[in-house]
Amino acid sequence: MASDKLRVGFVGAGGIAQGAHFPGWQALDDAEIVAICDIKEETAAKAAAAAGVAKKNIFADYNEMLEKVELDVVDVCTPNCYHKAPVVAALNAGRHVIVEKPAATSVAEVEEMIAAKNRAKKLLMIAQSMRFGGEALAAKRFVDAGGMGDIYWAQAELLRPRGVPAWGAFISKEMSDGGPCYDLAVHVLDLSLHLMGFPEPTRVSANIWLEISDKPSIMKHDPKKFTVPDELAAGFIRFENGACISLATSWAVNAPGGTHKVFLAGTKAGMSNPPLTIVREEYGMLTNATAQVLPESGIKSHSEEIRQFAEAIQTGGPSPVPPEQALITQRILDGIYESAAKGREVKV
Ligand SMILES: NC(=O)c1ccc[n+]([C@@H]2O[C@H](COP(=O)([O-])OP(=O)(O)OC[C@H]3O[C@@H](n4cnc5c(N)ncnc54)[C@H](O)[C@@H]3O)[C@@H](O)[C@H]2O)c1
Repeated sequence: MASDKLRVGFVGAGGIAQGAHFPGWQALDDAEIVAICDIKEETAAKAAAAAGVAKKNIFADYNEMLEKVELDVVDVCTPNCYHKAPVVAALNAGRHVIVEKPAATSVAEVEEMIAAKNRAKKLLMIAQSMRFGGEALAAKRFVDAGGMGDIYWAQAELLRPRGVPAWGAFISKEMSDGGPCYDLAVHVLDLSLHLMGFPEPTRVSANIWLEISDKPSIMKHDPKKFTVPDELAAGFIRFENGACISLATSWAVNAPGGTHKVFLAGTKAGMSNPPLTIVREEYGMLTNATAQVLPESGIKSHSEEIRQFAEAIQTGGPSPVPPEQALITQRILDGIYESAAKGREVKV
């Protein structure tokens, strides 16, 4: 380690970096942001000023940053299609890496990242922030204590009726590859899999639609820039242990309102999140219990994910979200697009 504090360099210093990752690192006494790389000069300068980074440590090329600055950690917050290259470069340079979700945009890319991580013997964490909110942490405790019994079905849904993003790279095929599947479904899919213990997926049947993305959306996107293949996706995923997930996600659908839920059916209980609700049969009644007080109340998910990553580095612990889990998620995401293209169920 270069100093007592973890020295952090960013690749990609836009919305999520400045809005969520900066505060996460800045809340830690034993970490400091010391370098910024962004291909947009103005973004890099603004981010460096916000993080208190010296001018000499502002870069447009991450290879130069890796060469010139002693770093412990590289935090990659570039658009989806530009995750793999800086992640592999940073691991090859012997740094620990945290990268935004989705890990990458194909199974082959995630496999390349895993190989680089194994060669480097460094930690690689995928920033699946939804796992680190108070309710998700409590849900995991309940599952791990056996409260659910065997989980055999999940509904993972994140639907926005008219919520096509207007900023960043989200709607660009070239920069993001996919639409709500990569932006939204990856969150609820990851949380479902995490709570289910990452069973082995076997088959996916899915469809994607592009019907109304030119309609007005609350974020006022420019339909001419919309080049990703999906505005709505729905699928059914089968697992080796017999469990299944029903998945639905959208940026645009004529639905009565938005939905955001992970519902799990277990042999001992049901669980819906958020809000965290436990459903159990007790004393002859099927009852719903909602948590009134959580030890993690008020916790910020992105800050907690970064705190846990820093702790794992310092204690030599495992990655809080290892890329091997993201590989399972990516197999399913690849399966969704493949099944939609072929019009039938596919093996994953
Ligand atoms: N976890 C969440 O809740 C959440 C929320 C928003 C975005 N994200 C993810 O974060 C990532 C970035 O999204 P964003 O909203 O911050 O986008 P953004 O466009 O605001 O920021 C991305 C930045 O990366 C820079 N960049 C692109 N290529 C680069 C390169 N090769 N080297 C250096 N910089 C480069 C861009 O100039 C831009 O400033 C995406 O993968 C997205 O899925 C996650």
